[in-house]
Amino acid sequence: MTSSGSPDRAGGRPAPEAPAISELGAGIQLTDVGRAFGPTVAVQGVSLTVPQHGHLAIIGPSGCGKSTLLNLISGLDDPDEGSIDVLGATGSADRLRRCAWMPQRDLLLPWRDVLGNAALALENQGMRRKAARIQVSGLVERFGLGSFERKLPHQLSGGMRQRVSFLRTLVAGKEVLLLDEPFGALDSITRADLQQWLRSALQSEPRTTVLVTHDVEEALLLGSQVIVMSARPGRVAAHYDTDFPAGASRRELLRLPEFTELRDELLARLEEAS
Ligand SMILES: Nc1ncnc2c1ncn2[C@@H]1O[C@H](COP(=O)(O)OP(=O)(O)OP(=O)(O)O)[C@@H](O)[C@H]1O
Ligand SMILES: [Mg+2]
Repeated sequence: MTSSGSPDRAGGRPAPEAPAISELGAGIQLTDVGRAFGPTVAVQGVSLTVPQHGHLAIIGPSGCGKSTLLNLISGLDDPDEGSIDVLGATGSADRLRRCAWMPQRDLLLPWRDVLGNAALALENQGMRRKAARIQVSGLVERFGLGSFERKLPHQLSGGMRQRVSFLRTLVAGKEVLLLDEPFGALDSITRADLQQWLRSALQSEPRTTVLVTHDVEEALLLGSQVIVMSARPGRVAAHYDTDFPAGASRRELLRLPEFTELRDELLARLEEAS
């Protein structure tokens, strides 16, 4: 941002051309992407660029196509119109290989315990089961799941299942992280703790990240850029680059006048878009 948070793409003004990846370092680039499901146009004319190690946060009303966009980027789905480039990969199978995707609803395997589910991505990459369990067990504590390591998904709360799913996504070690409402089912204290943790983790171990959230503060805390999508068909209604002090804690950021100013502006944009 421009800490004052002026939109560069909003309010009917002509949208600037998305800059080419070659200018920014390979990241994620969507060009005029559209996807319809029968008569339902989920997203239309979406162009955006996330530079390598950039963090895009997407906010928008329910049903505006946020999850659809993540699925398209991940390679689980293909657009009807336009093109998608993820670190130079344009085909869906190649995009899939570069992305770790955390779905909006956790897809834990019911017969695997917490450690087994968290370790799944590592095993899929060829690591032996025992080594994978050991590797994730260090993080399980950090995610507040220490005493639940051996529990099965049906023995966990919704928030715990979400944390296991988030952990599994992180340990996959992919260059691109796609997170669909990763903290949606968490209580506010755990949510604040994990937001702070993810902010620091992305600074110390940078990954190109796309985060979908309903929470404007979360978008600003975790996004180096934030887009607001319009109601269906989902289009980019506004686009902000953020530039808050990297070393500031969550608590410090929430008190910064430029943070609260931009939060209020985003809330107003969101209201307009709904
Ligand atoms: N596989 C599908 N088949 C049919 N319609 C779909 C499919 N996936 C998405 N849609 C429709 O596309 C639109 C966008 O859905 P999407 O799940 O992307 O919205 P969203 O912004 O993620 O919503 P929410 O905030 O509620 O999660 C909705 O109208 C939805 O019903
Ligand atoms: Mg969704």
